[in-house]
Amino acid sequence: MPCKMTLIKQLFLFFLLLVSCKNDKKPVTILSKNINSDFTIAFGSCNNQNLPNLLWKEIIKNKPSLFIFEGDIIYSDTENMEYLKKNYDKQKNNSDYKNFINKVPLLETWDDHEYGENDGGADYPKKEASQQLYLDFYNVPSNDVRRKRKGVYYSKTFKIDTTNIKIILLDTRYFRSPLTPDSTSKKRYKPNKYGQGTMLGNSQWKWLQNELENSNASYTIIASSIQFLSDKHGFECWGNMPHEYDKLIHLLTVTKTKNAIILSGDRHIAELSKKEFKNLNYPLIDFTSSGLTHSYTNFKSELNPYRIGKVIPYKNFGLLKFDFKNKKVIMETRGENNILYATYTQKY
Ligand SMILES: [Fe+2]
Repeated sequence: MPCKMTLIKQLFLFFLLLVSCKNDKKPVTILSKNINSDFTIAFGSCNNQNLPNLLWKEIIKNKPSLFIFEGDIIYSDTENMEYLKKNYDKQKNNSDYKNFINKVPLLETWDDHEYGENDGGADYPKKEASQQLYLDFYNVPSNDVRRKRKGVYYSKTFKIDTTNIKIILLDTRYFRSPLTPDSTSKKRYKPNKYGQGTMLGNSQWKWLQNELENSNASYTIIASSIQFLSDKHGFECWGNMPHEYDKLIHLLTVTKTKNAIILSGDRHIAELSKKEFKNLNYPLIDFTSSGLTHSYTNFKSELNPYRIGKVIPYKNFGLLKFDFKNKKVIMETRGENNILYATYTQKY
């Protein structure tokens, strides 16, 4: 029989769990502090299973609290699920990757090249089978919500002392309707007619609204495989569906989402974009890091009115170092030998 004190303690812990469930609709995970900062998020994307995986061991040097994979963990444009699995298996057996996932908790979403089709969207015919192989690769348990619903979106909230950080991982592939090819310029795509098409699909938008409405997080990290703010390059980005871009800003505004930061990949460059929006009381940052095994080394220039600093066309990963007391986030882009390419500090 438990003693009275133990019983009181258990009741108190149960009450805390109920409070956290009520506030965020799910229990929060409490992580221990990292020596570098109050909380360190590392992130990256674009990892070819056939190329040397040089950066996993560099990321570990920064002792991240967790790693967010922004997609393209393998390159496997195919409708052949056996071939897709073979490529996942090759990545799974990479010793540096194996060592990494044993040491660092991973959160993830997908992009086009593990989804199965370059720039692919809702039309990709093997998306259901591909989703299960993706979840198998990341050892997602059979009772996880992503095993039962369409798309790989989900969220997780971390509590560090009294600060909550919510991480939302979007699926920009499963529901995305066709893009509009640009036949009048060298650009690959031009924006759809305003109101035409969807980036996230109805069910994911509803889910996202609910996630933001019921959040008490001090910071909200939104992982989108494709870039959000940079919209002049003509490749995939939210700017190709301007009404969906506006919808996300509107949602962040009406739900009073605190200190949202977007993380993106896909481009095989790193850059940081920042834009003020009338009704958001903080500047929105879209921090892009790509790729881990290969990069756009021939990069010359590209218009991005929101860019802070320079484009980094080398292999890279990103870091967000949170300083809760001083309400700032240090954002770093690093690469081979843990070299620091760029750093930017945002006060919140
Ligand atoms: Fe990529």
